[in-house]
Amino acid sequence: MGTMKRQILIHPDPRLKKVAAAVDDLTDARRALAEDMLETMYDAPGIGLAAPQVGVLERLIVLDCAKDEDQPPRPLVMFNPEVVSASDETRVYEEGCLSIPEQFADVTRPSEVTVRWMDADGAEQEEGFAGLWATCVQHEIDHLNGKLFIDYLGTLKRQMITRKMKKLKRELARG
Ligand code: NI
Repeated sequence: MGTMKRQILIHPDPRLKKVAAAVDDLTDARRALAEDMLETMYDAPGIGLAAPQVGVLERLIVLDCAKDEDQPPRPLVMFNPEVVSASDETRVYEEGCLSIPEQFADVTRPSEVTVRWMDADGAEQEEGFAGLWATCVQHEIDHLNGKLFIDYLGTLKRQMITRKMKKLKRELARG
């Protein structure tokens, strides 16, 4: 059975605002979903994707921030990811999102985080992340709580981006 590219939801969509459910049973269907999400993410191209972005309200994210040519790919699949500690030190990064195409804005987050998750084999993992990995994993975990990077921005900026996305969706619907 091959992998399949999934359609990425575009903001605004009520499914992007929901709190996703914990995964307590690692089924083949869920592993296949994770593979599909990786393919969808690489194809976009992007460095992270959360299950709600493909319309599945479960706590699953995928990421690979080794995007330089000289780094080998490092696809990570995280079920029920949780930030267990975060640095006081922060980092500002110009974030984007596959559900908010071509819009970017500075977001401040802890510069280092320790994350605990269950991998695709059902094993518990814990690892510290810094730099782009730290930004990305926090952005993706936010998706599981119905939070988008534009929720960190001021009201005016957020409304401006949302208006642009509504226009884009109307255009896409027209085909
Ligand atoms: Ni995103």
